[in-house]
Amino acid sequence: VNTSLGNRPIGVFDSGIGGLTVVAALRRLLPTENILYLGDTARVPYGSKSPATVQRYSREISRFLTAANAKLLVVACNTASAMAVPLLRKEFDVPVVGVVEPGAAAAVAATRNHRIGVMATRATVRSGAYENAMLALRNDVTVTSHACPLLVPLIEEGWVEDVITDQVITRYLAPLRQANIDTLVLGCTHYPLLAAAVARAAGDHIALVDSARNCAEAVKTTLQNNHLMTPADTDGRLEVVLTDPADAFLVTAAKSLNLEIDNLRIEHLTET
Ligand code: DGL
Repeated sequence: VNTSLGNRPIGVFDSGIGGLTVVAALRRLLPTENILYLGDTARVPYGSKSPATVQRYSREISRFLTAANAKLLVVACNTASAMAVPLLRKEFDVPVVGVVEPGAAAAVAATRNHRIGVMATRATVRSGAYENAMLALRNDVTVTSHACPLLVPLIEEGWVEDVITDQVITRYLAPLRQANIDTLVLGCTHYPLLAAAVARAAGDHIALVDSARNCAEAVKTTLQNNHLMTPADTDGRLEVVLTDPADAFLVTAAKSLNLEIDNLRIEHLTET
């Protein structure tokens, strides 16, 4: 067993299966890294819960992942990123990368008219995390956020290419269009699976920002800066731990993301 620092896994977590969009982006960018993914399927969704609850869940999961020797934590959930990243950075001594900051930075870089839209869960919108992150980078942007709570269930139902989903997206986009945005952040881990449908509804003049892909880039930079890149030159393993048995969405997501899962197990986290 090679126990060098770099061979330790990247610990990734989400409220459920949706964070696999971040895993897919990591796989493409960093194919030799080992990944340990925890999906909190027992307690999903986080998008309707309070900050204190999401922070407690995030802490418990981070303890689990660091006990499993994770060299870096990736918060592959927009809701948990919005609410728990500062706390995790304080409490854990490995680097912590969320999805909000990289997505915010990419949006600020992409906009030309300084009007940015965000689609996310209610909890993420309520937190103001995207606005705060964008305004910290540039104070002349106007951010319009819209909660889109119907999208996650539609995606999990597999209605990714469906007229009903297209209509829901069009309805959610209306206030963002009205705000004359030229850049739209897909601020929920599930939404990259809807990227084609959102792009169709938004039209060519609105640039989409995929927070999963930008998060993967931030992970690469953080690994490099901390000398934590794996020295391996063979494909890394993907281990998935769920806190409750998976439903059909795991198979759908893994298939549409072209992900091979090397090991899948159920584990119950101890409550703290
Ligand atoms: N993973 C969550 C997010 O990215 C979406 C699902 C949920 O509400 O837990 O915000």
